[in-house]
Amino acid sequence: MARRGLLLLLLLLSALQPLWPSALPPPGTAAGKAAIASLILSALERATVFLEKRLPEINLDGVVGFRVLAVQLKGVQEEWAQDPPLQPLSLRAGKLVEKLEALLPRSLRYLQLSHPQYLREFRPAVQPGFWKLPHTWTRTNASLVYSTWEPQDLFSEGSSDRCLVQLLGTGMDGAPPCRLSDPCRTLMTRPGCSGYCLSHQMLFFLWARMMGCTDGPFHHSQQYLNVLCANMMDVNRRIEAIGYTFPTQDLFLENIMFCGLAGFSDFYKRRWLEAIVSWQRLQEGCFGKPAATGEAAPRAPQSPRRLLRRVKRQEKEFTDGCLAHQTTTAVAALGGFLYILAEDPGGRWSPATPSST
Ligand SMILES: *[C@@H]1O[C@H](CO)[C@@H](O)[C@H](O)[C@H]1NC(C)=O
Repeated sequence: MARRGLLLLLLLLSALQPLWPSALPPPGTAAGKAAIASLILSALERATVFLEKRLPEINLDGVVGFRVLAVQLKGVQEEWAQDPPLQPLSLRAGKLVEKLEALLPRSLRYLQLSHPQYLREFRPAVQPGFWKLPHTWTRTNASLVYSTWEPQDLFSEGSSDRCLVQLLGTGMDGAPPCRLSDPCRTLMTRPGCSGYCLSHQMLFFLWARMMGCTDGPFHHSQQYLNVLCANMMDVNRRIEAIGYTFPTQDLFLENIMFCGLAGFSDFYKRRWLEAIVSWQRLQEGCFGKPAATGEAAPRAPQSPRRLLRRVKRQEKEFTDGCLAHQTTTAVAALGGFLYILAEDPGGRWSPATPSST
């Protein structure tokens, strides 16, 4: 067992080596940026092959990130098309968009058969035009991090989903979108959340923004996003500090996906990009359970472990350990790295000094 584990590890390392020589090239130069972009595109192409192969089995939560990715790729394709040295990359991004645009409607046809009600309620999130990319960037403010956390047992995925359905206006009651009942308002604005509770609250305000809801508490959506993403940044730093122990990677990726889409550029850290790319299973193109290496995983200290207890959206695990939700959040996180790289020629996403990350 141990020998097999070692062999696997060696195989894995040798497979990674050509792809991952040491660190990423510096993004400051055009060549460096193109090299990073090409690396991310390769990862995304592999993940899209995974989507294609498992299409009939992937649930809706597993598809959303690929819809986001299609939007991000269109964004970078347009940026790069104007820059002759980057045109080959633009073409590559364009090809991947085409592939996704063909796959996504096919996946919805499968979901229509397997989960018709869930699809009806959450269809907007997988429709073209729903997700919009940030055009101005901000950073999280550490002074907004909660000093104490509440136990998150009160937050169930069911009640969170009901609030999202209200927001989308896709419920059976025929109510219009942007509605916020008192229980949902309490749930979504309650301070002191951690883990998936934070990202559920964040998703709520992010969707409200995508839909253009501005009344009532939505008038202050940006303030809520500031607080939530400051705390999600804190969570991600803790996850990094414990070595991204399984299963924390999923939450880590979700936080980058959501807060990145809300325009918080400090989620796009170079060392986080390096970590994420290294997690992909090259054979399957998916993200999921780490391959057994025979090594004991480092144990998380008590407090972060409790803090990061999972309350998450629907996961779908494949027999080979690929995880649909983790893969979909990974592609949207990586798409975000690609987008900020293309969108922000000043290289703001990647501060030169480690201290400022
Ligand atoms: C961070 O938030 C605090 C408290 O709201 C505020 O006083 C401070 O100005 C903010 N800092 C930045 C850089 O925005």
